[in-house]
Amino acid sequence: MKRQEKESKHRILILGASGFLGSAIYKELCSYFNTYGTYNISNKALEKNEHFFQYNIEEDDIYEILELVRPTVIISALRGDFSKQVLVHQHLTEYVFLNKIRLLFLSSANVFDAYSKYPSYEDEKTYSNSIYGHFKIKIENMLLRLPKKQVAILRLPMVFGTQSPRVQEIVKNINEKQSIEVFPNLIINVTADSKVTQQIHYIINRNKWGIFHLGSTDLVHHDDFIKEIIETLQCKNQPLFKRVYTTNDDRYLAVLPKTNTLPKHLQLLSQDILSELKLP
Ligand SMILES: NC(=O)c1ccc[n+]([C@@H]2O[C@H](COP(=O)([O-])OP(=O)(O)OC[C@H]3O[C@@H](n4cnc5c(N)ncnc54)[C@H](OP(=O)(O)O)[C@@H]3O)[C@@H](O)[C@H]2O)c1
Repeated sequence: MKRQEKESKHRILILGASGFLGSAIYKELCSYFNTYGTYNISNKALEKNEHFFQYNIEEDDIYEILELVRPTVIISALRGDFSKQVLVHQHLTEYVFLNKIRLLFLSSANVFDAYSKYPSYEDEKTYSNSIYGHFKIKIENMLLRLPKKQVAILRLPMVFGTQSPRVQEIVKNINEKQSIEVFPNLIINVTADSKVTQQIHYIINRNKWGIFHLGSTDLVHHDDFIKEIIETLQCKNQPLFKRVYTTNDDRYLAVLPKTNTLPKHLQLLSQDILSELKLP
């Protein structure tokens, strides 16, 4: 893309751009938009990069970075202390409102973790009995009070991919002959970082807004999917499993897309993730 064209487009700030998803999103967007990001833990390579800012939610003021970058789109891909994250998102909400810019928030299937009998769709009321789910709901509700076209809430199920901490941990446990936790009663949908980044690119380009369920259109049992991943990875050692049963009945933790869907090429099946892991 020509420089002129790039400069005429958005200025994007990714909070948590050194993380698994944040860094994948940065790589996807940086050739098309003026893209900036934050990292927390000191990192020599990022310190030299003028597009990266060190930022700790516990100590630093987000306004300073907002003033420097003057983003037109903010993508929140942070982890860290929950109450501090709520505070940061309060500040972001004010900034987004005053400057009429857009915010994309990475939320989680856990906003529905108290419903276990069915998979969940975009317009259903959130309901959680976990601390993590409650915290994500709190931020979602804050963002939903903003003018609706300025917000995209991206609810993600478990994210897999070659670089994902989940796959790397499976490989590590197999190599070290440690057991891998599986939840035989848990029915989920899944996604991959490669798909999430394309979906975000599309949402930004097309000014899409609202609540998105960015999971596969099919459902899988957690233990079956983990076993399929292991088969795909062709590890030398035999895997050991620790089967964790949280209830007697099957339990759903799935965010299925229904009302706010993306085009076909941006949807995925769980099998697509396995095919991607197979590639050398
Ligand atoms: N991965 C999944 O399966 C999944 C599923 C559903 C939802 N999500 C959501 O997606 C978002 C990103 O997840 P991820 O898996 O990419 O997480 P991650 O790899 O742990 O990355 C988290 C990012 O937040 C930064 N961070 C951590 N503590 C911080 C602090 N105290 N102050 C400032 N920044 C801090 C990290 O910086 P450093 O790199 O410097 O530590 C990193 O850039 C999260 O909001 C998560 O809830 C993820």
